[in-house]
Amino acid sequence: MRPLISAAENLRKAHDFANIAKRMYSSGFGGSRGYSGVSDDLEAEFRRKFDPIAEEFQSHKALKHKFFDFLEAQSKEGFTSKQFEIYRDNFFRRTELEIPSVARFIEKAALSGDSQAVADTIRNLNDEGGYGDVNKMHSNLLAKSHNVHGMRVFNLNPIYPISEAGKSENLVPEVEEYRKAKQQAFEQEYPFVAGNTWAHELAADNMLDNFRKAFFVPYQGYYTPEEYKKVTEFFTAHKDDSVEGGDVEAQHERMARYAAERACKESLKNISSVRKGGLNFLDHQARLWDGMLREIEKAKSKGEIIEPKETSSPSTSVKSSEAKSVKGSNVESSR
Ligand SMILES: [Fe+2]
Ligand SMILES: [Fe+2]
Repeated sequence: MRPLISAAENLRKAHDFANIAKRMYSSGFGGSRGYSGVSDDLEAEFRRKFDPIAEEFQSHKALKHKFFDFLEAQSKEGFTSKQFEIYRDNFFRRTELEIPSVARFIEKAALSGDSQAVADTIRNLNDEGGYGDVNKMHSNLLAKSHNVHGMRVFNLNPIYPISEAGKSENLVPEVEEYRKAKQQAFEQEYPFVAGNTWAHELAADNMLDNFRKAFFVPYQGYYTPEEYKKVTEFFTAHKDDSVEGGDVEAQHERMARYAAERACKESLKNISSVRKGGLNFLDHQARLWDGMLREIEKAKSKGEIIEPKETSSPSTSVKSSEAKSVKGSNVESSR
């Protein structure tokens, strides 16, 4: 016969559970970030070992890549259609994995028992999924912005949905390697995946800023102010300084970093796995920028350069709305 659990044993178990719960939830998004339940010395040791990873990620070449310098310099004189097409197709191919990656992180966190990461990342997934509005889904905002811009400025045929970019002849081998690495990362242990996800979110703001400034800002004169606002909605969905809480990508980064921190607070040994996971992402992203730079640089001599036009003139602001019936391509359709 099974012995009865004593009252003292029950009390001990309840106490253990309370400690676990405190540790799991206390460093969540918006909560205290302390290494709760343990001494200041341990917290200091944790910060000493963990914080350098954030610095290493921030200074990784994926975030300060010469691709971005090249784009900034060339945006002053403008791009050829082929250059924009190579950028668009590879960016679609890369970004197609965003929603699956966020969803897989939720799965991984749930199976690892990190409830706070599950709750936080569901908010992230809601952002990506447009809170149930298909027109606000980030993948569809991406398609709209780049298809409209491609048609209006660069005379390109649209691609919709973004998965169609998989058939493009403009894909660089590095984008397939990036995708493979991103998918394989989820086969690794949870701290590796948390580090990978954190680095992914950490690099997002910088990437989007660079692309918006290079390919969209110089051509805003091709639109009325209202149209331009619509065509850049993909970018403002990630970062909009004009509204409270508009720092969406920065919030994703904080939530992912806390998940990585919690994984390391389980055991300091996990710090190296978080670091490896993050560097795995950043290394592949840097290689993708290498490939895109190589091909976009070459395409500078393919066709004429479309000159930038930063302010709109009456003659261009009423330009016909191109291929209105094409799904995901009409600047009006995101209203
Ligand atoms: Fe997004
Ligand atoms: Fe994000």
